[in-house]
Amino acid sequence: MQTRKVVIAGCGGITRAWMNAVEHFDDVEIVGLCDRDPGQIDAFKERWQLSKLIVGSDLAQVIRRSAADTVFDCTIPEAHPSITLTALECGCDVLGEKPMAPSLERAREMVAAAEATGRTYAVIQNRRYNSAIRRFRSALEHVELGALTTLDVDFHIGAHFGGFRAEMSHVLLLDMAIHTFDQARFISGADPVSVYAADWNPRGSWFRHGASAVAFFEMSDGLRFTYTGSWCAEGLNTSWEGSWRATCEHGSVTWDGGAGIHGERDAGGEGLIHNFEPMRVATEHAEDGDPACTGHGGVIRDFLDALHTGTRPMTDCRDNIKSMAMVLAAVESAETGAKVTIPKEILRCE
Ligand SMILES: NC(=O)c1ccc[n+]([C@@H]2O[C@H](COP(=O)([O-])OP(=O)(O)OC[C@H]3O[C@@H](n4cnc5c(N)ncnc54)[C@H](O)[C@@H]3O)[C@@H](O)[C@H]2O)c1
Repeated sequence: MQTRKVVIAGCGGITRAWMNAVEHFDDVEIVGLCDRDPGQIDAFKERWQLSKLIVGSDLAQVIRRSAADTVFDCTIPEAHPSITLTALECGCDVLGEKPMAPSLERAREMVAAAEATGRTYAVIQNRRYNSAIRRFRSALEHVELGALTTLDVDFHIGAHFGGFRAEMSHVLLLDMAIHTFDQARFISGADPVSVYAADWNPRGSWFRHGASAVAFFEMSDGLRFTYTGSWCAEGLNTSWEGSWRATCEHGSVTWDGGAGIHGERDAGGEGLIHNFEPMRVATEHAEDGDPACTGHGGVIRDFLDALHTGTRPMTDCRDNIKSMAMVLAAVESAETGAKVTIPKEILRCE
């Protein structure tokens, strides 16, 4: 297995999750660091006890001098397009933090650059690599439930980040709902069709813009997906995974975002309300909580394995642009008050 020589771009808070995962993998060697703030580079080297690294604020130079073949993009959202495009042009494969880009035009450019250079560009969607979401998804495949008709999620957390999020426009939709919308695609296997959305800043918000949002999606096969969320909700927090209800033709399954998955199916009856039977849901797996296959570790492992085998990782940019399109359509709907249709050519990205 060829060891990947990696430059980390952006040395802030999220790199802890990346480094905690990478230390389990012996096919990754960190060879360089790039950050516009030298203090962040020094703090990173100190924290991880790394000394012999090529460092700087110019990514192309750091890649060249370190002979890197891979870039982990952990910069802030607005920097993702320029970091990814530079890395791809320098011949590197890229695994980048969500969200891909602040506009669909920039996201398309990134996909086109990956195709033109023949390199892989994938996005961290760590919430797909959670064994509970997989158990929830497989519970929905139970044949006696019939088709999934409606997916509802509730996301409420009082999150006091500070930093770039405090000043960002549409902060919840752009920086968090990308996870939840991507989870909805993962759970349902459906593609987005259109959305109505609104976002606002509730009284007392510690964000500048858009800390709360609602969105109502039409998905393929007539599925409806509803989202209610806030980063300004003190008390009674949901999990970061959200709290889900899936309604199928003949039963329903809920997932509390943790270990709690419960299902009931129609057991017949003549009255106004039928009788229901509890459903058996698969129990936890041995690898639950294993940092090498959960969350960031899971996405990074999948990305590395895809590079070794010449296959496409699950969160490849050609798939992830569909989740990005959901977010950007919701933002457009929130700004215009109109229903927004997801561009059809995005759904054909293969
Ligand atoms: N997947 C997840 O669960 C998850 C969780 C938290 C954050 N994130 C994402 O990770 C990214 C970073 O978030 P964070 O909390 O670490 O932010 P942060 O502000 O702590 O760190 C970002 C770093 O990027 C550097 N930077 C910014 N622009 C740059 C540029 N053009 N070139 C080089 N360096 C640059 C900053 O100086 C800073 O050190 C964001 O996209 C965020 O959405 C993902």
